[in-house]
Amino acid sequence: MSFTIPTDNKALVGAAVAALLVGVFKITFTSLSFFSMIFDLYILPPVNFKKYGAKNGNWAVITGASDGIGKEYALQLAKKGLNIVLVSRTLSKLELLATDIETKYKVSTKIVAFDASTDAPENYESIAKAINGLPVTVLINNVGQSHSIPVSFLETPDKEMHDIITLNNTVTLKVTKVVTPIILETLEKDKKLRGLILSMGSFSGIFPSPLLATYSGSKFFLQGWSAALAGELKPKRIDVELMLSYLVTSAMSKVRRTSLLIPNPKQFVASALRNVGRRVGAQEKYATCTPYFSHAVFHWAIENTVGLSSKVVNSINLNMHTSIRTRALRKAKRIAAAEAEKAAGKQA
Ligand SMILES: NC(=O)c1ccc[n+]([C@@H]2O[C@H](COP(=O)([O-])OP(=O)(O)OC[C@H]3O[C@@H](n4cnc5c(N)ncnc54)[C@H](OP(=O)(O)O)[C@@H]3O)[C@@H](O)[C@H]2O)c1
Repeated sequence: MSFTIPTDNKALVGAAVAALLVGVFKITFTSLSFFSMIFDLYILPPVNFKKYGAKNGNWAVITGASDGIGKEYALQLAKKGLNIVLVSRTLSKLELLATDIETKYKVSTKIVAFDASTDAPENYESIAKAINGLPVTVLINNVGQSHSIPVSFLETPDKEMHDIITLNNTVTLKVTKVVTPIILETLEKDKKLRGLILSMGSFSGIFPSPLLATYSGSKFFLQGWSAALAGELKPKRIDVELMLSYLVTSAMSKVRRTSLLIPNPKQFVASALRNVGRRVGAQEKYATCTPYFSHAVFHWAIENTVGLSSKVVNSINLNMHTSIRTRALRKAKRIAAAEAEKAAGKQA
């Protein structure tokens, strides 16, 4: 007995088989990406910093090193056995940190203090002078600024807009231009070593964030720049990576309490240094890593469902930032009223 499929049905069957194949491909690809994230998170051992010159007399340069995430990079890289050049704004904070690092971890430190928002040539010259002749192998581009509170683009003060772009982009590029040739010199002298340039990205740089438009755009810029640089420097034995983070407790985020989704700087940096060179939650992005476990799952889930740049993510962000702005303005009003009351009490 022979069985023939009518021509119309043949087309239908063809379409169904094609849809099935696409579905199988999508499920296989998504599963592989999920298991690759789990492998990075829980199975691979921590990255060994010996390849970046730890315990070998080599140096790391860290910007924004006096507080928050940058301070943690300094402490944890010193613990791994790298000497540290601390670059930031407040000299007194840098001096205290340098003493703390030298006492605790028996490594050397140097301090460079300036206000990076000026973008003055002397700033970059002072870094060049401090690292001249040092075997530098690591650069952590951490300095950054966000909006003081969520604000519409049109209401963003010009100085805030200018400082965000200067600190997050211009300074990062110019410091990298000063430090990278020194890293290349170090690698030229010691062929066993690798270099590392790690820059701090943000979830605002993977999904557009209304009411943080300038900050969001500046971090998107870093994503493109860092991945392009990674391609250029890979053949020269320098690993370039953008570290992505959702909220971390710090002066900048103004979040004080940790939670499942919000680590403190110590927890975040431990995950970042453990995973250098891997993607963890950023499976689809070259030379990019979302290292903290809950951020990784969050990133992966959005990427593989509604999409990072989707309308739904954009409007959730808008609602969240509108509510943060309302609360911040209410708080500022309360503080101003309390201060006015205090001043009136003093006068009476
Ligand atoms: N915290 C978060 O939730 C979060 C999330 C994603 C990405 N990030 C990124 O992580 C990086 C660090 O953020 P953070 O939260 O650790 O910030 P933070 O606690 O506010 O620390 C910022 C550091 O940068 C320095 N700095 C600020 N303005 C400066 C200037 N004009 N000149 C020189 N140094 C300056 C500060 O120096 P002083 O000590 O003198 O103030 C401090 O050392 C940023 O790139 C940020 O975008 C943070």
